[in-house]
Amino acid sequence: MAERGREHWGSRIGIILAVAGSAIGLGNFLRFPAVACRNGGGAFMIPYFISFLLLGIPLCWMEWSMGRYGGRYSHGSLPGILDAVVRKPWAKYLGVLGLFVPAVIFLYYTYIESWCLAFSVFSLAGTYRNVAEPLAMKTFLQGFQGLTDGSSLGPAYGFFLITFAVNMMVVYRGLTRGIEFLCKIAIPVLLVGGVLLVIRIWTMDSPVPDMPDRTLNQALGFMWNPDFGALRNPTVWIEAAGQIFFTLSVGLGAIMTYASYLREQDDVVLSSTTACGMNEMVEVVIGGSLVIPAAYLFFGLEQTRAMAQSSFDLGFVTMPCIFNGIPWGDVFGFYWFFLLFLAGITSSISLMQPLVSFLEDEFGWTRHRAVTVIGIFAFVCSHACIFGLSMGVLDEFDFWGATLAIVICAMIEVLVFIRYMGVARGWEELHRGGDIRLPGWLKGVFYVTPVYLGAILLYWAIFSWVPWIAKPMGWDISVSWVDGIRVQAGSVNGVILLVRTFLLAFLVGLLWMIRVAWKRKLPARQGTGGAA
Ligand code: ALA
Repeated sequence: MAERGREHWGSRIGIILAVAGSAIGLGNFLRFPAVACRNGGGAFMIPYFISFLLLGIPLCWMEWSMGRYGGRYSHGSLPGILDAVVRKPWAKYLGVLGLFVPAVIFLYYTYIESWCLAFSVFSLAGTYRNVAEPLAMKTFLQGFQGLTDGSSLGPAYGFFLITFAVNMMVVYRGLTRGIEFLCKIAIPVLLVGGVLLVIRIWTMDSPVPDMPDRTLNQALGFMWNPDFGALRNPTVWIEAAGQIFFTLSVGLGAIMTYASYLREQDDVVLSSTTACGMNEMVEVVIGGSLVIPAAYLFFGLEQTRAMAQSSFDLGFVTMPCIFNGIPWGDVFGFYWFFLLFLAGITSSISLMQPLVSFLEDEFGWTRHRAVTVIGIFAFVCSHACIFGLSMGVLDEFDFWGATLAIVICAMIEVLVFIRYMGVARGWEELHRGGDIRLPGWLKGVFYVTPVYLGAILLYWAIFSWVPWIAKPMGWDISVSWVDGIRVQAGSVNGVILLVRTFLLAFLVGLLWMIRVAWKRKLPARQGTGGAA
């Protein structure tokens, strides 16, 4: 325990594994292979690495530095951290997205996580062993999700209850006894399991030995041979940046919250870079060398591309079909899905933590009370994703949380860092207690990040966000370089409008809570600028 009663991480390796655990998630194993495949495999990797260097790493450094800085003033969530950094009454309200984004993602993330637990049990039990074809496997998945006629949502709901309860239990136990403890076990298991799976896929006999265009070499070549021509395609750049946000958990408040539990002289610069590096290793080496090469070998390039249109299909349809076709497939299937479950849970617990910190730090609640109240709220709201899956509720949550608000939140963080912390002071903050010192010219990257981010944000807003937002309101808008803007009348989607009303109400509710919190005289408020 620490000054003013805030917890601290138990060890250096603990915080690194916890942040790596937050970053390494379903995005690494489900989203990354699908996005990479859709965008041409090797063609995707160059914009991906550029986004990692110009967006991902600088944002991580900023989040770690500002997070630890906020922790010194007993603030662990974005409203308080911005209040401490900016010292103006309005600043705390900008931090609302640091609560909104992780909470919204949490509402559907745990449900998907529970599918992984379910499928790991199904693998061992041989439940899908006799389902040979992708089409039949897709029907099996949809039956499990309660989407086919006469199917029951019972098993999926049961696994959701277990998954949700485990999440609550871990966060309830606290930072060191819950989050750190779990990550110290889960991440090494996940790394070893991932490497074993890659070895298994790379050493298996070709499923179609008479087809010379289905070799491991070609499969890996698709993923790794760079295609410089594709760099002219803006969509590839946009998709690469989106993946970097999601996978590194930047812009969603979780890393800042974790960093707020560091001690003043704890290393930030090396630890943050190590955690980012671990995530990339898992994403690129394990995530990128597993699903796509395996799918390529079994189904060929065209079918793999078709399957990659949905991240879920690759993970929950393609992979089970592959496991059914190899010796010891049940065991490897279990490995694959349990590994996904571990990756998922180490991320979902980090999504809950910003709200927990907010209630603890700004309202003076105990952790147990905070977890209980958030747990009840999240449990109730998750039902919208479970029962509204076929109506696109989960996708809508994903859009507002993980696509739109996450980028705006990141933009706010970058601008605050540059304008109010200042690059020179921020650089010193990053290196305070640091085990290494980065070359000074790297400071320049902090100026590149907002420009790069701003350009991408504008592109996203015009080409993707506007059409998405307008569609359920009855306008089919398509924007393209070739055809310009086209608007057609569509149909109004009442369910989606209801979801949006809920999300708006949630956002306003959080703003109101920030206002109420700052009217209280807690130690966290002393020494910072924030009056209500
Ligand atoms: N970073 C987490 C993931 O990749 C959210 O799933």
